[in-house]
Parts: sequence; C-alpha cells; structure tokens
Amino acid sequence: MRRTVAVGVVLSILGLAIGVGAWASHGARPATAARTAIDPHVAAGAHDFVQFACAACHGSLGRGGVSPFVPALAPIGKSLTVAQLTRIITHGLGESKNPKRPFMPVWGPVISKTQVADLVTYIRAGLPPVKYATPIPIPGNQGPVVAGMAAYVHYGCINCHGPNGLGGVPNPQAPDKAVPPLSGQDFRKEFNTDAKILEFIRSGSVIGKPPITSMPHWGGIIPNWQLKALVAYLKTLK
Ligand code: HEC
Ligand code: HEC
Repeated sequence: MRRTVAVGVVLSILGLAIGVGAWASHGARPATAARTAIDPHVAAGAHDFVQFACAACHGSLGRGGVSPFVPALAPIGKSLTVAQLTRIITHGLGESKNPKRPFMPVWGPVISKTQVADLVTYIRAGLPPVKYATPIPIPGNQGPVVAGMAAYVHYGCINCHGPNGLGGVPNPQAPDKAVPPLSGQDFRKEFNTDAKILEFIRSGSVIGKPPITSMPHWGGIIPNWQLKALVAYLKTLK
C-alpha cells in the first residue's frame, strides 16, 4: 500500500517536472515572444494616450496634423529627458491668461504619477501602435446627442468633468477646489444659451497658473458639428 503511494508521488513529481520543462521551453521560444510581448508600461502609456485625449490634439500615435499649434510627438524620441517630459505633462505648456489658441493643459491634478510615467515611457518608445488603444469613434449619422456623448469621451471631457458632467474631480489649488459640473441648475442658469456653451468650449479659460488645471482651448481641434453635438449632449444631462 505504502509503496504504491510512494510510486504515485514520485510519478506525479516527475510529471510536474516534465510539465514545467515544457512550459519553460515554450516561454523561451524567441519567435513567439517577439510577436506577442509588449512592455506593459508602453501598453499602458498607449491606452493613457487615448483615454486622456492626447491623441485628439497630437494626432493618432502622436503623428500631428490636427492643428498647426499642436506639435507632433513622434519626432521627439529621446531628445527630451524623462524629467522634461514629466514636467510638461504635469505642468502644461504655452498657456496664457486669455487663450487664443490651443495650449498644453496642466494634467497634474487629473493624471496619476504612475500614468504620467507610463505616458513618458510610451513617448520615448516612439508611440508605437498598441492593439485596442484607439479612440472611440464619433458616429456622424446617429443624431447630435449620440455624437456628443461619444465626443465627450473621445476628447477626454469625462476625465476632468466626470461621468454625465457631474463634476467633482479634485483641482485642489483652484478657487472651487474642483473642476465644475456641466449639469445641474447652477450650470444651466449660467450657460442658458447654446452659443454660450459652444463659445466656452471653443475658447477655453485659464483660471490660474500650474498646478491649477484649466479648461483647454478646443478651437481648431474639435470640428464645428462636433461642438454643436457636445452642446446637444450636455443639454440631455440632469
Ligand atoms: C487641447 C490640446 C492638447 C491636449 C489634449 C494635449 N496636448 Fe500636449 N500640447 C498641446 C500644445 C498646443 C502643445 C505645444 C505647447 C507650446 O509649445 O506652447 C503641446 C505640447 C506637448 C508636449 C511638448 C512637445 C514639444 O515638442 O515640446 C508634450 C510632450 C505633450 N504635449 C504631451 C501631451 C500628452 C502626453 C497629452 C495627454 C496626456 C497631451 N499632450 C494632451 C496641446 C495638447
Ligand atoms: C484638463 C481638464 C479639462 C478638460 C479635459 C475639459 N475641461 Fe471643461 N473645464 C475645466 C475647468 C477647470 C473649467 C473651469 C474654467 C473656469 O471656471 O474658468 C472648465 C469649464 C468648462 C465649461 C464651463 C463650465 C463652468 O461652469 O465654468 C464647459 C461648458 C466645459 N468646461 C466643457 C468641456 C468640454 C465639452 C470638454 C471636452 C471637449 C472639456 N470641458 C474638457 C477643465 C477641463
């Protein structure tokens, strides 16, 4: 009896060893690894690049071509240090009190240090394509509310103004200590015409120096029909 158990144990250990051996040799096959493996930090950076709408201003894969005021990022390569890139993303660039053209927003209060580090890794890796890291499409034939709902995510409004425009995203150094809601009575009272809402999105508004995050200038970046769609969508919120 005991002997059978012992043989069984020896056999299963042997089986395990063979299994591990097979797994290890499979994992080490260079051809497969090269085709499927991607540095998780590069992958995370690519998804952050889409989620925070970097791609909406700097173009898909940072190739530019959206606005003459927004540079392409692909040519940067390693010419900017990790510290320089981290500072630009956290503190913004080119913001003026009265924005007349797009500026690089201050992301410090909105994007975590880990996410900024992944973005920097992604930019220094040359912004390669990463599967599924693509912006949500904005349908042109499903009515303005649907287009506006998609644009709200596509352009990353949701990161600063929250889901359904509920606001409340912390902006500690700003007078209100938070990014304002785009819903509710106060908003509706102040922004009581389509033109007022549209003009604010187009022009942006600088409420203070970094580390305060301000409303980006979207003129020349978001086409007019999508600005109108955003307004239509905001008017469907609570
Ligand atoms: C609303 C448009 C907009 C968005 C969104 C945006 N940027 Fe920018 N970004 C700019 C503009 C405009 C500049 C150029 C500022 C200047 O030089 O005055 C810039 C500059 C930069 C630079 C410096 C480029 C250089 O060659 O000096 C980096 C790096 C950068 N952005 C990264 C990002 C990342 C990462 C994101 C997403 C988290 C992002 N940007 C989102 C508009 C934008
Ligand atoms: C980087 C963060 C950020 C992003 C991204 C952003 N906003 Fe804003 N937005 C702000 C801040 C901060 C204010 C407050 C500005 C002020 O009080 O002058 C604001 C104000 C507004 C206002 C006026 C509301 C009020 O009470 O002052 C509207 C409308 C608005 N944003 C719409 C949008 C839309 C639409 C998008 C996407 C296309 C967007 N925002 C993207 C930060 C952001």
